[in-house]
Amino acid sequence: MKKLFYLFIITIVIFASCNTNSQKDKSTKTFQPLATETPARPSGQKHVLGLTTPKMDTVRVGFIGLGMRGPGAVQRFTHIPGTKIVALCDLHPDRVEKTQTILDNAGLPRAAEYSGSEDAWKELCQRDDIDLVYIATDWKRHAPMMIYAMEQGKHVACEVPAAMTMDEIWNVVNTAERTQKHCMQLENCVYDFFELTTLNMAQQGVLGEILYAEGAYIHQLEDFWNSYEADWRMEYNKTHRGDIYATHGMGPACQVLDIHRGDKMNYLVAMDSKPVSIPAYLKEKRGEEVTDFKNGQHTMTFIKTENGKTIHIQHDVASPRPYSRMYLVQGTKGFANKYPKQGYALKADAVEAENMPNLENLTAHSYVPDEVKQALMEKYKHPIHKELEETAKKVGGHGGMDFIMDYRLVYCLQNGLPLDMDVYDMAEWCCLAPLTELSLNNNSAPVAIPDFTRGHWNDVKGFRHALNQ
Ligand SMILES: NC(=O)c1ccc[n+]([C@@H]2O[C@H](COP(=O)([O-])OP(=O)(O)OC[C@H]3O[C@@H](n4cnc5c(N)ncnc54)[C@H](O)[C@@H]3O)[C@@H](O)[C@H]2O)c1
Repeated sequence: MKKLFYLFIITIVIFASCNTNSQKDKSTKTFQPLATETPARPSGQKHVLGLTTPKMDTVRVGFIGLGMRGPGAVQRFTHIPGTKIVALCDLHPDRVEKTQTILDNAGLPRAAEYSGSEDAWKELCQRDDIDLVYIATDWKRHAPMMIYAMEQGKHVACEVPAAMTMDEIWNVVNTAERTQKHCMQLENCVYDFFELTTLNMAQQGVLGEILYAEGAYIHQLEDFWNSYEADWRMEYNKTHRGDIYATHGMGPACQVLDIHRGDKMNYLVAMDSKPVSIPAYLKEKRGEEVTDFKNGQHTMTFIKTENGKTIHIQHDVASPRPYSRMYLVQGTKGFANKYPKQGYALKADAVEAENMPNLENLTAHSYVPDEVKQALMEKYKHPIHKELEETAKKVGGHGGMDFIMDYRLVYCLQNGLPLDMDVYDMAEWCCLAPLTELSLNNNSAPVAIPDFTRGHWNDVKGFRHALNQ
């Protein structure tokens, strides 16, 4: 009996000490984010930060992908001086023909046509009278097309998201570095009027130190699901969890936070709610019973940067709610918000320093009155908007931002300037698709975000648009 008692005491002591040790372990242990491989930069290959290429009088363009999005780009290019639309390509000959009428209506010569086969686009890329290949196909074709075009000596511009997997992203980065060609993702939302004005305010210090930014793609797609070629977008949503369309939120947030221009994203965590509305839509509208639909109804991602800043990104193409890209910027002296109410809030002393009309007792607890907002927006109108606003609004494309995007691409190529968005922006904004999927499949574990510049994220100090002096 005595023996049994001692055994009992010893067991308790051992258990208690194990428990204390494990608690100690827990309190001191730092969880390391899950990591994906960062391939070493191949020898002889150099980064493309600030890449410039010789000036061009005329930018000669070939377009691939003339579905819902592509023809609008062709239309916009007809309004950009110093461009030549050389070739058009789509799987469907009738889409090429329809796009030719845009050139007819603009009084421009017809372009060479490529269509009818899966690989016809390669012939377009092989032409020696094209400088830029402009891609507006589905997500899975983007990376192979960009890589092939750069290998044929062309600059590339590609619709969002330009790459979907880590392998694709690294292959595109490596190809851009190897060929020293421009590779720009066509992220239009960074040129929208409120975003660009706010960026200018932030760059001039009006909002103080920017600590936090939000962005999103919240857009119920029921009206569009049946219009995508071969159902590519639904297929992608069926088979992939995560924020698969993050760039509209990421672009403006990363630019205002100077990502890879003095700061870098270190890790993310993601969480999603279960998919309900799209599987219900598939059952009701298509008679399809999809039991393992992957993409969550609403996906949220949080990102932490090297300099201690945070980013919050959301994705929801399923829920019945108003369109929103969130776009919120929080600094130590002020705040900007776009959806649902567009406005600014500033610390009272910041407003006075701005010498704005003091219409109310302005504090950081409420939005500045409309008159003050208008005055701020006028004062901080970005030089790009000053130059292009009128034409952009006439030509259109999401209210003008699409035109500004294309114009800037051409302007920088013509003037031999670095493009506004480089291949590392593409990589950073696109990596949310594979990395949020990894986080979600591991109970929202933190996932490391690679430094796609491979050591050069702090070489450039602050994001700026290149302008010809
Ligand atoms: N930035 C924005 O605001 C915005 C808006 C809409 C769409 N997009 C993006 O634009 C891209 C295209 O979207 P969409 O809505 O036009 O899709 P879509 O399905 O309407 O068009 C895709 C087109 O690519 C063509 N295509 C496919 N494979 C091809 C091949 N091998 N060779 C030549 N052509 C081929 C198809 O025939 C189709 O016409 C997507 O990446 C999408 O995310 C961006």
